[in-house]
Amino acid sequence: MALVSTVRGAQLARLLGQWHALPGRRRSPDYAALAGAVRGLLTDGRLALGVRLPAERELAQALAISRTTVSAAYRELRASGHLTSRRGAGSWTTLPGGHRVGSHGLWAPLDDLDGIDLGSAAMPAPAELPAAAEEAVADLSRYLSGAGYHPAGLPDLRDAVAAGFTRRGLPTSAEQIMITSGVQHALDLVLRLLVPAGSPVLVETPTYPNALASLAARRARIATHGLGRAGWDAELLLGAVRQTRPRLAYLIPEFHNPTGHLMPVGLRERLPAAVHSAGTDLVADESFVDLALDGVAPPPPLASYDRHSRVLTIGGMSKPYWGGLRIGWVRAAAPVVQRLAAVRVGMDMSSPVLDQLVAVRLLERADTVVPARRAQLVRQRDALVAALRAELPEWRFAVPRGGMSLWAELDGPVSSALARAAEDLGVRLAPGPRFGADGTLERFLRLPFALPPEDLAEAVRRLAAVRYDLDRVPRPRWSEPAMIA
Ligand SMILES: Cc1ncc(COP(=O)(O)O)c(C=O)c1O
Repeated sequence: MALVSTVRGAQLARLLGQWHALPGRRRSPDYAALAGAVRGLLTDGRLALGVRLPAERELAQALAISRTTVSAAYRELRASGHLTSRRGAGSWTTLPGGHRVGSHGLWAPLDDLDGIDLGSAAMPAPAELPAAAEEAVADLSRYLSGAGYHPAGLPDLRDAVAAGFTRRGLPTSAEQIMITSGVQHALDLVLRLLVPAGSPVLVETPTYPNALASLAARRARIATHGLGRAGWDAELLLGAVRQTRPRLAYLIPEFHNPTGHLMPVGLRERLPAAVHSAGTDLVADESFVDLALDGVAPPPPLASYDRHSRVLTIGGMSKPYWGGLRIGWVRAAAPVVQRLAAVRVGMDMSSPVLDQLVAVRLLERADTVVPARRAQLVRQRDALVAALRAELPEWRFAVPRGGMSLWAELDGPVSSALARAAEDLGVRLAPGPRFGADGTLERFLRLPFALPPEDLAEAVRRLAAVRYDLDRVPRPRWSEPAMIA
């Protein structure tokens, strides 16, 4: 049986914070606002699944509201599938449909047409995709006489990816490349191969939330290196590697998601030797390396300073091309690639041949697709920056020189409250705590600039309204009389 933990009334009250003062909720009754706030905590990952909620009376007392309101809120949560109750056993948190998956990493698209989704940093497909797909269909005939299984990837695509590394100054052969179904898959495979359950793993904080989800699935013990306004602190990071001797370090040196930082060359030179001395393997996530903006030239890849095959590089096509392709890769020593391919056979066997052929044809168009993406991102970033400076001048941020998102420091620890309230105005946000391992980062918000300038400007206008309301909405006057029982 699953372990069920209990959240006490006072704890839930603290988590709920100013639930009654969220903008837009004056239109809805108290019980609906309370149910909405609990749902918000659940989808944020701040309230875990399978947790027993306090008894109605206890929560009513902790929130100083009537038990009737709590009963009605619990009833609504049961109706929406977020709560399951059994007489005598209490009520515990669930997800609709009975799923017991963690909420980390669940990013359903908005079905509201007026909604603006700032939850994900991903762009639509490039215009060149259909032509690349047509050519790929024609190429397919060359493969039809084989079985179609290539656990390490289609030779043509491995060649093309290896050539890309070689062009960046890191000589690479096709045997050092394994093709995966996206970067997330690449990370998951590497963790399966290299991280036994319970091993210590070092990550940046903030970091990419779905990497945390993968690490949680491996039951890794997380150690963190906090990024400051200027990015990595070399001495602290190297010190953390020496002291914690993690089994693996997962870092995002190229236009880090969410902060946009680019790791300086001095740290790149020192890290591979440091991890080698600590017995640590280093995964460098290069998802955004192609998306340098303003003519910035990223320094040589981390792996080019690696003398001991300690650095595994993961990257892919989702950010510069299209996430829907599901094409990623690992660059590692050839024997490691073979072991990864063996792990993959027990998982999904191989990536689809046709999709890999599309990837080959798209990579041939890199010189048109990638510069167009960069130009588009510069326009979108500039629109976001201008809107923020005009509408939310108290928020502080460094203008990112690459990648797709801006990491804003807010004027208070309101990120989750803001995200919950923004949903009412049709803006989906990924609040700061989603990017941390420990529920902190409430003063931060990731704002991707993956949408057209006018959508970004409108989203910031709505955010400014929400932010203003958070401070200004008076405490509610309860409609029910206080119950004395
Ligand atoms: C840093 C980072 N790594 C990995 C991924 C996952 O990429 P993919 O869609 O290729 O699995 C993302 C996507 O947002 C990312 O930002």
